[in-house]
Amino acid sequence: MTGIGFELLATDGRARRGRVTTAHGSIETPAFMPVGTAATVKAMTTDAVASTGAEILLGNTYHLMLRPTAERVAQLGGLHRFMNWDKPILTDSGGFQVMSLSDLRTMSEEGVTFKSHLDGSRHHLTPERSIQIQHLLDSNITMCLDECTPFPATEAQAESSMRLSMRWARRSKDAFVERPGYGLFGIVQGSVYPELRAESVAALSDIGFDGYAIGGLAVGEGQETMFTVLDFTEPAMLKQRPRYLMGVGRPSDLIGAVRRGVDMFDCVMPTRSGRTGQAFVRRGTINIRNARHAHDDRPLDAECGCPACRSYGRGYLHHLFKANEMLGPMLLTWHNLHYYQDLMREMRGAIAEGRFEQVASALEARLTEGDV
Ligand code: GUN
Ligand code: ZN
Repeated sequence: MTGIGFELLATDGRARRGRVTTAHGSIETPAFMPVGTAATVKAMTTDAVASTGAEILLGNTYHLMLRPTAERVAQLGGLHRFMNWDKPILTDSGGFQVMSLSDLRTMSEEGVTFKSHLDGSRHHLTPERSIQIQHLLDSNITMCLDECTPFPATEAQAESSMRLSMRWARRSKDAFVERPGYGLFGIVQGSVYPELRAESVAALSDIGFDGYAIGGLAVGEGQETMFTVLDFTEPAMLKQRPRYLMGVGRPSDLIGAVRRGVDMFDCVMPTRSGRTGQAFVRRGTINIRNARHAHDDRPLDAECGCPACRSYGRGYLHHLFKANEMLGPMLLTWHNLHYYQDLMREMRGAIAEGRFEQVASALEARLTEGDV
């Protein structure tokens, strides 16, 4: 096998049930990837992450190149060994994080120069260096360096941004060292413009990648517009390759995007929200800091089998957050990741059984019921 494998096991409407295979094992799709930015899924051990059902983690070029550096991770055996996660890892290329986190950025044809958000030091990221860093990390799925076009953008701005990303995609592919079980994904850009998204899909398909990501979404356009972009972008994408919607999303985003043919997702939502006291449950969301939970002995979600729901009531979790105890963020992160993996598992089962629409609309209806 060169690259990574993708088997399409079943389809139901546009929804797909598949399996990605890498040198570090396989991933059942549709899949949600927890974010492990700085070589850790915040507040979780890797055993705990695996116990939720997660089969792949996302790491970040931007953070790891600054601290502890890619060379240090390589010297310590690569990211899997470094963070004690022997399953697949996908790394983002850095362009998006440079834009959202660093100070003083300058973009050029060559790449992007920026100042570290940690210590103000100057760094340079080119497509070639991004790929080299991701190789040093030993990432199973490497992402091309791209520019996440800000929203809103005029069609002219979106066009020149997308075309730069396509030239960087070519350079990323040339810099990528092919090995069995390791792959490279291209990233479709083009903002909300159908012709630009089509041009981007065609440009990436011509270069040829192991998978295709959809970037530049969940940047403020709103769910309805995001779904519209998926509606006109996804049909042009290669059926026999995995599709990855970057940085998405809330549970309703995941359901709507699986309905529209997406196979992979990542988002900080379950982990970040968990640390601030927001729990995702089958009936919507709960803010555990709210006083109404103080006297409530029920679990966060009676249908959840996670350690937080099996062993503790809402009143205890509320207390942990009020007392700033670190077990609070740990338990809510654990619950949220468990809930996200349950959601993906349920969608995978529904697609395999040809009942996706029925199951998806029932899940959506429950999400708006509100907590009782
Ligand atoms: N994460 C969320 N959106 C994007 C994007 O457009 N590009 C990259 N590289 N990462 C992302
Ligand atoms: Zn739970």
